[in-house]
Amino acid sequence: MPESSAAPPPRGAKQSPAGPKPSGATIVLENLTKRYPGSATPAVDSVNMEIKAGELVVFVGPSGCGKTTTMKMINRLIEPTSGRIRIDDEDVTDMDPVKLRRKIGYAIQSSGLFPHMTVAQNIALVPRMTGWSKARIGARVEEMLDLVGLDAGEFQGRYPRQLSGGQQQRVGVARALAADPPVLLMDEPFGAVDPITRDHLQDELIRLQHELHKTIVFVTHDFDEAIKLGDRIAVLRERSHIAQFDTPEAILTNPADDFVSGFVGAGAALKRLNLTRVRDVPVVDFPTATIDDPLQSIFDKLRSGTTNELLLLDRHHRPYKWLRRGDLMRAKGSLARAGTLVHDTVTRDATLRDALEAVLTDNTGRVAVTGRRGVYEGVVDMETLMNSVQQLLEEDRLDAVEHQHELEEQRAHQTRQEQEGTTGGQGGRP
Ligand SMILES: Nc1ncnc2c1ncn2[C@@H]1O[C@H](COP(=O)(O)OP(=O)(O)OP(=O)(O)O)[C@@H](O)[C@H]1O
Ligand SMILES: [Mg+2]
Repeated sequence: MPESSAAPPPRGAKQSPAGPKPSGATIVLENLTKRYPGSATPAVDSVNMEIKAGELVVFVGPSGCGKTTTMKMINRLIEPTSGRIRIDDEDVTDMDPVKLRRKIGYAIQSSGLFPHMTVAQNIALVPRMTGWSKARIGARVEEMLDLVGLDAGEFQGRYPRQLSGGQQQRVGVARALAADPPVLLMDEPFGAVDPITRDHLQDELIRLQHELHKTIVFVTHDFDEAIKLGDRIAVLRERSHIAQFDTPEAILTNPADDFVSGFVGAGAALKRLNLTRVRDVPVVDFPTATIDDPLQSIFDKLRSGTTNELLLLDRHHRPYKWLRRGDLMRAKGSLARAGTLVHDTVTRDATLRDALEAVLTDNTGRVAVTGRRGVYEGVVDMETLMNSVQQLLEEDRLDAVEHQHELEEQRAHQTRQEQEGTTGGQGGRP
């Protein structure tokens, strides 16, 4: 059943233009400006931007630079003072905002779920307003919960306070997607959850986007998050002025100015780990057994394997424990007591940085790779990761050398021109 036989795309999860037709819409902002009453300077000053259909664009920038204001003008939760917004060539600047918002999903920090409504009622909100039948809504709620990795039977009747932060955030995303809008706006949606949950939510968003090809505008403070998620990143400075709008690769290797370099921060080479996915490196088989296997067969496997080690899976084929031959001996054959629990796993959409972190967390020299519903698919080992890191660093060094050469050539050229200019001027005099 593993999906590993399917050929992985040649590059990271984010490059999707060759894939299925995007269901998203183009967004064009023209001289978009917001002046709050009583403020001397505009909060957003004449932004021009084109976001392509099916693209995930991240806005990053310092606090107060106008990210939220810019985003909320797209679904007109904030009315622009001047300028236009076009979605798929339709000018929506003067359209009925309620109608407009049905075409645009919106997810925010701390999920923004209505506390007095169940999970199902929250997700059903926009479909109900749009007049869907009860049966269609019911099916859609289940479909959406499945999409974000929550069991419908278990969760649809619960209230938001009965969910963890990460689960609330997943329901928030499910609600935003329920009416199948072409555009999804996300304002720091993962800002309030712990780093591990955040990583997982990011991975899930990448997987979702793989399936759905929406146009997503995503706001964050966190440049690492921007690199991981964005097809393109808009680095914004005060009043939403665009300092640079480009791919993560281009921004990392060629920051437009000091402001952008400041945002990229130190360790650009290590940040490049965020640009490579687990799917880009070899995921290999590893000996496994399940907890229901007879003990004798587990012993046999441990003895016959080249590593004397295996990964124990639970009943649902999810990674459960790392098991060494000695462990089982010491625990006198008790599977419950033997081995080390698997603390962290990655999906193929996770970055090499996530994988490296997981390897270090579990301290077993490798990390288990899982697919949908956490089902085991293979492992990536430390050596593979180190080789990839070395390769990235080497590429960076070559780039830097090349860049240095270019600069030197430019400087030499300039000096020659200046010299020729001076001598030319003197020689020209009678
Ligand atoms: N309702 C309002 N009335 C007046 N000024 C506002 C209002 N909302 C925001 N502002 C101001 O507009 C500017 C941009 O705010 P905005 O919320 O868009 O920033 P942001 O980039 O999203 O910041 P953060 O990263 O902190 O969320 C800020 O200077 C803010 O004080
Ligand atoms: Mg904001």
